[in-house]
Amino acid sequence: MNSVKALAESPDLNSIPSLYAYSKNATDSPASDPQDPIPTIDFSLLTSADPDQRSQVIQELDKACKDWGFFQVINHGVPESLMKMVMEKAGEFFNLTGEEKQDFQEKDVLDPIRYGTSFNSKKDKVFCWRDFLKVIVHPEFHSPNTPLGFRFDIKSQRLKGLTCDCSEVLLEYSNRTREVVRGLLSGISTSLGLDQSYVEKALKLESGLQICIANLYPPCPQPEVAIGLPPHSDHGLLTLVINNGVSGLQIKHDGKWIDVKDTLPNSFLVNTADQLEIFSNGKYKSVEHRAVVNDVVTRISVVVANGPALDAVVRPADKLVDEERRPVAYIPMKYEEYLKMQQGNQINGKTCLDRVRV
Ligand code: OGA
Ligand code: NI
Repeated sequence: MNSVKALAESPDLNSIPSLYAYSKNATDSPASDPQDPIPTIDFSLLTSADPDQRSQVIQELDKACKDWGFFQVINHGVPESLMKMVMEKAGEFFNLTGEEKQDFQEKDVLDPIRYGTSFNSKKDKVFCWRDFLKVIVHPEFHSPNTPLGFRFDIKSQRLKGLTCDCSEVLLEYSNRTREVVRGLLSGISTSLGLDQSYVEKALKLESGLQICIANLYPPCPQPEVAIGLPPHSDHGLLTLVINNGVSGLQIKHDGKWIDVKDTLPNSFLVNTADQLEIFSNGKYKSVEHRAVVNDVVTRISVVVANGPALDAVVRPADKLVDEERRPVAYIPMKYEEYLKMQQGNQINGKTCLDRVRV
C-alpha cells in the first residue's frame, strides 16, 4: 500500500504526485475564523440533580444541534490520561513498519480492523492526504494486538484516574466514550421532545456500532493543493473527535467553512451525523466537515463514530412527523445498508443522504 506517511517521508519531496491534486470546487471555499464561539456543552449538567440546570443544558444541546451540528463537550468524565494514551498509541501504530501494518490492510468495509489510505482507495479518483486505521470496538470489541500496544499494563500506573481494572486502552476508551455518547443521546432524545430513553431503544444502542478511527495527516509540501479529507458528513449518530493539538478540522456553519481551533483543553469535539438527521426528520442536520493539511507538522486525530445497531432500521421518529408541517423527509433504511453505501463509495459532501431523502 502506498501510504502518505511513506510518501511524505521520501527525501526531496517538493511537490505532490498528481493523484493527490484536489481541485476545489466553488462550494469548497477557504475557511475563516468563527464569528460566534463554537457551542460548549457541560456534560456533567446532563445528570445534574437540579432540574433547572438539566433543562438549561438540554436547551443548549438543542440549539447546538440545530444551529451548528457541532459542539465541544467539557466535564465529560473521561480521564485526560486515557485520552492522551489513545493519541499516543494511535501515533505508535502509524510508526510500525509497512510490513507490520500490512496485516490489517483493508478488504471489506465491515472488516473489524482496517488500515488504509485516502478514503476508499479502490474508488477514489483523487487521493486524500491521509492514512487511517479503523477498528470496530462495539458491539464486539476488536483491537490490533501487539506491536500496536493498544494493550496496556495498568500496573505501570500511567493511566491514572481509571476506575475499572480493564487493561486495554482502546477497550477503556471505547467504554468511556460510549457512556458520553449515551448521555448526549439521552439529552438529545429529551431535546427532541421524546422520552429520555427513546433514541436508545428505537436505535438499539445497547448493540450500537462504534468504530474507532485513527487518522494520520503527515506534513504535505503543497497543502493548498491537497486535502486531508474532502467535505463530507459522517454516517452514524454522533462522532467524537480529539487530536494532537494540531488544527485542521473545518466545519461548515451558516454556509461558510470555519476553522475549528482554540477549543477547550481535554474537550471532545462532537459532530452530528446522518442517522441523527434522518431520525430527527431533519431537525438536526448532519454537519459537513473536512480536514485540511499543512506543510509543517503531522496531525493525528482519533475519531469515535457512534451509530445505531447495524440491523436497526432508521426512520424519522413518529412524534417528529407532522403531515402538514413536517412531513416525512427520509425513507427508512437499515443502518448497515447505509453504512456500506457510504463507506463503499467516494466521499462527496452529503450526497449519500440524497439516497434516502423523500
Ligand atoms: C472523519 C473525520 C476529521 C479529523 O474521520 O470522518 O471527519 O479531524 N475526521 O480527522
Ligand atoms: Ni468525518
